[in-house]
Amino acid sequence: MYDIGVAITGTGFMGPTHTEALRRLGVRVEGILGSSPEKSQKFASQYGIPKAYQDFDEILADKAVQAVHITTPNRWHFDTAKAALLAGKHVLVEKPLTMTSQESAQLVALARTVNLAAGVNYNYRFYPTSLEARQRVRSGEIGEVFSIQGGYVQDWLLYPTDYNWRVLASEGGQLRALADIGTHWMDLVQTITGLEIESLLADLRTVFPVRQRPKGEVETFSGKVQQQQVTEPLSIETEDMGGVMLRFKGGARGMLWVSQLTAGRKNSLRYEIAGSQNAVWFDGERPNELWFGHRDRPNELLLKDPGLMDAAVRPYIGYPGGHNEGYPDSFKMLFKAFYDYIAAGDFNATPQYPTFEEGHREILLCEAILRSANEQRWVTVGA
Ligand SMILES: NC(=O)c1ccc[n+]([C@@H]2O[C@H](COP(=O)([O-])OP(=O)(O)OC[C@H]3O[C@@H](n4cnc5c(N)ncnc54)[C@H](O)[C@@H]3O)[C@@H](O)[C@H]2O)c1
Repeated sequence: MYDIGVAITGTGFMGPTHTEALRRLGVRVEGILGSSPEKSQKFASQYGIPKAYQDFDEILADKAVQAVHITTPNRWHFDTAKAALLAGKHVLVEKPLTMTSQESAQLVALARTVNLAAGVNYNYRFYPTSLEARQRVRSGEIGEVFSIQGGYVQDWLLYPTDYNWRVLASEGGQLRALADIGTHWMDLVQTITGLEIESLLADLRTVFPVRQRPKGEVETFSGKVQQQQVTEPLSIETEDMGGVMLRFKGGARGMLWVSQLTAGRKNSLRYEIAGSQNAVWFDGERPNELWFGHRDRPNELLLKDPGLMDAAVRPYIGYPGGHNEGYPDSFKMLFKAFYDYIAAGDFNATPQYPTFEEGHREILLCEAILRSANEQRWVTVGA
């Protein structure tokens, strides 16, 4: 149990996901803010949350709230994160941190001046198998990292009649698929290996320059099942898919493929890290398994089991071996890292959760990808 009150903004896909994970952890959800007072009230009644806010200022003024979780579409992240930090609240923002690196740099600078926790929700880091991969790669078990390849593919935007706010640059940012899901992959492989992407070459494609937008709001989770009859055509500039060649500091090479148009792949994040000794492979659709490849002996398949995993990973494993953990658990464990840090009270310590600095770095990567695709050349990240 943590003695802290949290307010959440956003009542779509992520709002309930954060609410449930916080409660499983023992963190009090004080109040909720939706896009209208009615939506706040509806969500509060449904989830038994004491307060339904009218606007963000009410959160800022609420003395019972010490931390804010921002789960609104990307365009709201910067203003609300900044206001919450200035009001003295800890902030956990959904990825991507902001729409531009100018904004994310401002947030990094602000976060440095306050004694508060400031995190970005790169939750895929907290699958126990990926934490184990990190321990093994960082301890040198796979040897010198030669190559990192994989991708993140989904099928929920396969048809031109599929619509979500993410397809609009004004709501989600100029880079879409790569910023929405590609950044999860880039954050993950960089965290596991400790190797930073230093330059890249990107090729992006917008398969549907026009999509049909349903009249009225479409939230992420309901978009596919909602039967919308009345639609309007809308020009789309953001990419549906893209490939990126990567060079990591120290020499490792990589390839990333991202698409939101791959039939049958619901949410497939995969990586393969190959080193001078062994290789390690993860498939997010089978997240309790981690494959190790060997050249001179049979390959291994590790099934998630705290008894077989590194001691540093165990605090983030909730269930014994054979009891599957997945997506919702990764939120709970990232939040654990975040609230443990706050509870410890040493804001000079190195956080175990993804920081604003790391979120900013992902925005620089996004901008490098856009620049590379537009100019059709290799670019240096952050240059
Ligand atoms: N970490 C992950 O795995 C993950 C997964 C999905 C989405 N996300 C991120 O979470 C954020 C939200 O995405 P989503 O899929 O939940 O979207 P969504 O469309 O399902 O939900 C967004 C919600 O925000 C509300 N909203 C819009 N403007 C608002 C405002 N000004 N104040 C309060 N509420 C407002 C909308 O009414 C909606 O309920 C995005 O930044 C996205 O990138 C992260």
